[in-house]
Amino acid sequence: MSWIKWLKSKAHKTDFSQSALTIPEHIAIIMDGNGRWAKKHHLSRSLGHREGAERLHDITDACGRLGVRYLTVYTFSTENWKRPAAEVQTLMDLFVEFFHKYDSMLRQNDVRLRFMGDKTALPASVQQTWEEAEAESCHRQGLQLILAFNYGGRQEIIKAAQHLAQACCHQTLQPLQIDEQHFKAALFLPDVPDPDLLIRTSGELRLSNFLLWQAAYTEFWITDTLWPDFDETTLLEAIQAYSQRDRRYGAIETNSSR
Ligand code: FPP
Repeated sequence: MSWIKWLKSKAHKTDFSQSALTIPEHIAIIMDGNGRWAKKHHLSRSLGHREGAERLHDITDACGRLGVRYLTVYTFSTENWKRPAAEVQTLMDLFVEFFHKYDSMLRQNDVRLRFMGDKTALPASVQQTWEEAEAESCHRQGLQLILAFNYGGRQEIIKAAQHLAQACCHQTLQPLQIDEQHFKAALFLPDVPDPDLLIRTSGELRLSNFLLWQAAYTEFWITDTLWPDFDETTLLEAIQAYSQRDRRYGAIETNSSR
């Protein structure tokens, strides 16, 4: 039996934290393909997103068992406002529902909830859920589940630049002092390490304004699987591929003769 077949046979509801994989500290996911999944099953796009939320629950649970420390998921981009009003409303409703429906799983698994994006433009119910979930879970020690919601990478970089420009105007910082550390400190979640592995479902080969600063040295893994069909087995395939990557961050191997 091949290694990957063995992993697949072990994957389901098993504690696989002991396997010889390199578990990424931080996984980011672009959960794409809910609409295509719905179309394939003759369902509404709303039901596609609802099924997608169920997979988010499953993959949060799996990442916690694997020992992943941070899971960042793209749930609503600054560009998603361009979608029909009913679809936008479904995604707002799902945001609120998700935390109530899965409260006990998130609590039991000691999952800390964090968010990145522009909260101020969101409906009051979403802002309230965002603040409550963050406050209630802030002492939890398990996986940190980070929802990028009303998030855009360019928006985040502009916000950081504004913050640094203001510090220069107030003369608490000199323009030429600005370095990567200052810039990182001005992003939404400065304490969170950059993602090690970025997974994109449904086969699209683009970053779509997700984590533009943070993904500079992230390993990408793309699958044709639509997000509602993504499961622990697919997650393990991604981690298996990641485990074989040689991350050099622009350097060369220390014992390389090239
Ligand atoms: C992209 O699929 C997906 C989104 C824009 C939303 C992602 C949301 C979820 C997975 C549900 C969980 C959400 C919350 C708030 C807990 P798409 O609609 O672009 O798919 P398509 O490209 O096939 O049309």
